[in-house]
Amino acid sequence: MGPDGVQFYDSATGAPRAAAFVPLTLREADMSLNGFDHYLIKEIHEQPRVLRRIAENYAEPVHHLAELISEAYGSFLIGCGTSSYAALTGSYLFSRIARRHVNFAVGSEFKYQEHFLTDRSLVIALSQSGETADIIDAVMAAKRAGARVAALVNVPGSTLDRLADFSIHLGAGPEQSVLSTKSYTAKVAILMLTAHVLNGSEHVGREHLWRAVDGVEQALAPASVQRIQEIAAYMADKEHCFVIGRGLSYPTALEAALKIKEISYIHAEGFAGGELKHGVIALVEEGTPCLVFSPIDETRDDILSGAMELRSRGGFIVGISPEPEEVFDIHLPVADVGDASPLVGVIPAQLLGYYLALRRGLDPDKPRNLAKSVTVK
Ligand code: G6P
Repeated sequence: MGPDGVQFYDSATGAPRAAAFVPLTLREADMSLNGFDHYLIKEIHEQPRVLRRIAENYAEPVHHLAELISEAYGSFLIGCGTSSYAALTGSYLFSRIARRHVNFAVGSEFKYQEHFLTDRSLVIALSQSGETADIIDAVMAAKRAGARVAALVNVPGSTLDRLADFSIHLGAGPEQSVLSTKSYTAKVAILMLTAHVLNGSEHVGREHLWRAVDGVEQALAPASVQRIQEIAAYMADKEHCFVIGRGLSYPTALEAALKIKEISYIHAEGFAGGELKHGVIALVEEGTPCLVFSPIDETRDDILSGAMELRSRGGFIVGISPEPEEVFDIHLPVADVGDASPLVGVIPAQLLGYYLALRRGLDPDKPRNLAKSVTVK
């Protein structure tokens, strides 16, 4: 700081550097609780707005990402924690909608698979903060191999944003609760649209996304919230909970289990429905809560037969589905929104995590041992 104001220097070379001033566009409502009791519940309720914005505005960046995937010879989706489940959902979406194989790797594991990278590879890195060390590491490795890097990131100007050759900003607004919610659905929505653009069916993707905006609103309506509170009352003193889904709903099951365990400390495990018979079923006892994702898609018959197996071992079945089914002990209705089913399916799980934390007297915004952004390896 001198008489002419602030001067900037490169810490490595000492050379003077020019600074770009970027005005903050944050509103008071973005930073405050805005009438809610906790940031988590506020951010859960912001999702219809975030998704609407994507449905209205993201044509150009989504086309650009689709182009990068088309040009690449091998694409990889990477992320950590909740971002990894968005990435895995993306891998299913690209396969199902665009008939494209887009590999998936957890951020911290990517370095053990980086041998595949060439200068024709594309790495699509997903991160709310843009500062997760394992992701930055993976991206640096990709750059060393000459690969292109695309980012789906919520914080503009973050390390990932600056390293990437191309970034899509999620525009979800500040996510202050440690648990990731609105940035998750934003990433999934963008990947779903991108898969449809690649397939030449952008209008279908957009239509499913608009249906999901309504579906998320319904899932947040007082009647749905009340049901979740009843389930939270049932589950509050349980030790274990299992969550199953197949196909597109498998990553949703993983994310649902994460939402429950990281905030309520109930042991929650997500599984692919087909894996039940390979060991998981041994853990189910009388009254064990089991969440079952059953959207109206090709997984329905198989997942319902998985639900029957759980029930016959005493499992208490909570069905998250557009239709009621005999096998459900409790039905949580969600809208039928086609390929956008992960967007509506995850909402009851986010709410369940929140109300379980309240029931168990825990602070939903400050889970023990967790940090919003993990900048160490
Ligand atoms: C931490 C947070 C998680 C988050 C993960 C990845 O573990 O507690 O909620 O999903 O980091 O964060 P990112 O900012 O890279 O999406």
